[in-house]
Amino acid sequence: MSHPDPRPLKAQAPAGPLTGRLGVPGDKSISHRALMFGALAVGTTEISGLLEGEDVLCTAAAMRALGAEVERLGPGSWRVSGRGVGGLVEPPDVLDMGNSGTAARLLLGLLAGHPVFAVLTGDASLRKRPMKRVTDPLSATGATFWTREGGRLPLAVRGAVDPLPLDYVLPVASAQVKSACLLAGLCAAGTTRVVEPERTRDHTENMLRHFGATVSVQDTAEGRVILLEGQPELVAAPVVVPGDPSSAAFPIVAALLVPGSRVVVENIGLNPLRTGLITTLREMGAALRVENERVAGGEPVGDIVAEYTELVGITVPPGRAPSMIDEYPVLAIAAAAARGTTRMQGLAELRVKESDRLAATFALLAANGIKAEIEGDDLIVHGTPGAIPGGGTVETHMDHRIAMAALVLGLATRAPVAVDDAAFIDTSFPGFTTLMNGLAGGTPIGPA
Ligand code: S3P
Repeated sequence: MSHPDPRPLKAQAPAGPLTGRLGVPGDKSISHRALMFGALAVGTTEISGLLEGEDVLCTAAAMRALGAEVERLGPGSWRVSGRGVGGLVEPPDVLDMGNSGTAARLLLGLLAGHPVFAVLTGDASLRKRPMKRVTDPLSATGATFWTREGGRLPLAVRGAVDPLPLDYVLPVASAQVKSACLLAGLCAAGTTRVVEPERTRDHTENMLRHFGATVSVQDTAEGRVILLEGQPELVAAPVVVPGDPSSAAFPIVAALLVPGSRVVVENIGLNPLRTGLITTLREMGAALRVENERVAGGEPVGDIVAEYTELVGITVPPGRAPSMIDEYPVLAIAAAAARGTTRMQGLAELRVKESDRLAATFALLAANGIKAEIEGDDLIVHGTPGAIPGGGTVETHMDHRIAMAALVLGLATRAPVAVDDAAFIDTSFPGFTTLMNGLAGGTPIGPA
């Protein structure tokens, strides 16, 4: 299983420190939502800073197939003319969501609320991932789903003619499931109620409000209760997409690991439900500062200054997972360079990402001479500061974050680290290699 155009790469220790300022591409979560809300709004939504990675381009194509006008005006600058809530039309062909679980699951929420027939598929990674977590709750709207064995893609959906509002308690901490329920709720008459026992990223709630919907949130003994009034008129509103903290994680950890480095990653989203990695790295002793904090497009943003630090191993509690769910592969790299042992607890959800990320991260470490164990849902990494062997070839399993984590590791190992296929990096971080090499003033990352 690989990309149609596989790209083997290898990373080695750079000749000197990593230095400089950089921006990273736009936030993936916010980019998907901006296109979807733009398609549901009345009027024209202008988006700046959109992530032009393959995942988000799949969402753009899907919104076009559902009748919205989606235009690229220039780099990161897009315009969407929406059809109004309930106004999406039947797509003329199968919708291919590529590698993106977020695109597929959020779209299923939208489709459940529209009286249309649609078929969804994706690449070999996405076709393995569980969709029952959304099709189960969404069936209560009156929508019908036909899925492959185990609730996998390809699947067909016939949306409800008169969708019913959902009342659903999330069984897993998943912003994607929450968002799918809320998007379906837009088309339903009455109040949709979603309860999350553990808080997850709230970009959907923020953007619903930004486009004029009425959303209320209460913290109760049951968890966080989100109430959405159905059938609002969403009104087009400009969206400014901040840099993705999940992409910023890679240059930040690289700077912490390469002696003498100092890197500033500018304009990064600092939504508190996304900043678990910063909290964790600080607990490990990292010299991380946030400068120039401000609010842009309704989300907190700032510049993150990362300097080389001798890190120490810690225990990362399970409650931290939703706020850094995509950052564990690169945290494992930081842990490999830390003094002592790092225990990352409660990582069950990592098994159902673009790859089984728990297994893939463990294999990445093992291939490079790093001692690690999986105990239940915990990953334990034994660090060897200044003496990480490397020398392995990492199987990326169609997973962009495994590829980038492996390449960051290679910047801090004795022998180079190779990856079998780095092409999937383009799903979330186009330009990764160029940006990282720019910080190094050389080409420590290059063809294998
Ligand atoms: C996302 C939520 C997370 C995350 C994914 C993006 C989102 O998934 O892993 O990359 O945009 O809502 P889950 O909510 O399923 O954990």
